Amino acid sequence: MKKIGILTSGGDCPGLNAAIRGVGKTAIKQYGMEVIGISSGFRGLIEKEYVHLDESTLSGILTMGGTILGTSREKPFKKDKNLLKDNDKPQIILKNYNELSLDCLVCIGGNGTLKTANFLAEAGLNVIGIPKTIDNDVWGTDISFGFDSAVSICTDAIDRLHTTGNSHKRIMVIEVMGHNAGWIALYSGIAGGGDIILVPEIDYDIKKIAKNIKDRYSSGKTYSIVVVAEGIEHPMNKSAGRHIASLIEDYTGIETRETTLGYIQRGGTPTPMDRVLATSFGGYAAKLIADGNYGRMVTMRDNHITSVPLSETAGKLKVITAENHLVQRARDLGVCFGDL
Ligand code: F6P
Repeated sequence: MKKIGILTSGGDCPGLNAAIRGVGKTAIKQYGMEVIGISSGFRGLIEKEYVHLDESTLSGILTMGGTILGTSREKPFKKDKNLLKDNDKPQIILKNYNELSLDCLVCIGGNGTLKTANFLAEAGLNVIGIPKTIDNDVWGTDISFGFDSAVSICTDAIDRLHTTGNSHKRIMVIEVMGHNAGWIALYSGIAGGGDIILVPEIDYDIKKIAKNIKDRYSSGKTYSIVVVAEGIEHPMNKSAGRHIASLIEDYTGIETRETTLGYIQRGGTPTPMDRVLATSFGGYAAKLIADGNYGRMVTMRDNHITSVPLSETAGKLKVITAENHLVQRARDLGVCFGDL
């Protein structure tokens, strides 16, 4: 009987509990495995904090936001100058992995987590990665879970900004998350009918943005919706949304207000799509473990659940490219990306 440990690491998001449930229930019911849940990401492995997971503890969590295991941004391979020389976190993890008699460690997380997972695989642990992040910037998978829920939350917010912007004839700027990628802004901008979408991958010129807004105004569109990814170029002492809103007001003279959605994008219950995706990823991870197929990350590729070597994906970012079809479709609709 194999014994596996599951940990959730990095920024939380809706769907984490669905993924934990997918791995755990499949491992127990299909393969007769023993399952433990490691607390607070890699920190729990360092501190040997864990709980036993069984069908009762995994019941009723499918729709719950957050993670029942807790998470952290612990990076064990990041040298900490304050650590005593023999207090080497990776060595502690290896020791605890063996003392817990684990046959495999399932790491559910984004780029940072998957990079650590690959380092642990290279150090000899049996590891499986599951791509989780609202940013959808994990290379090697068409989509990560958490993304659909964040897009849904942002789209609802944009829908609401249309009515208030229209009533006041204002320019409404909404800043969304995404770290260094613009996927949330691109998808929610299109879904919410954004007029201008600014992403880190496409350099913007405020003069072109202002011209677009003024041209719209002259044609009778007395309000505009501007969706801004947090990772665009902006001064350190100002949020991206505040920066763009102040520039627009300065260059157009039109009353402008900004909304920063922040952590609302990471909270609450997962969408049905994220529940299905996280469950599928989890179940497939259990199958990889049963087959002894370690050192891989579960992925969605061309609508198929499959896997790629962790070594191939770790540390690589998936960003919007110039030829992205959604960008082209949006441009054809008249959406401005601040560059033309
Ligand atoms: O990676 C998910 C994410 O929400 C990013 O979109 C955002 O920039 C970052 O996490 C915020 O980090 P923290 O949760 O540590 O504040």
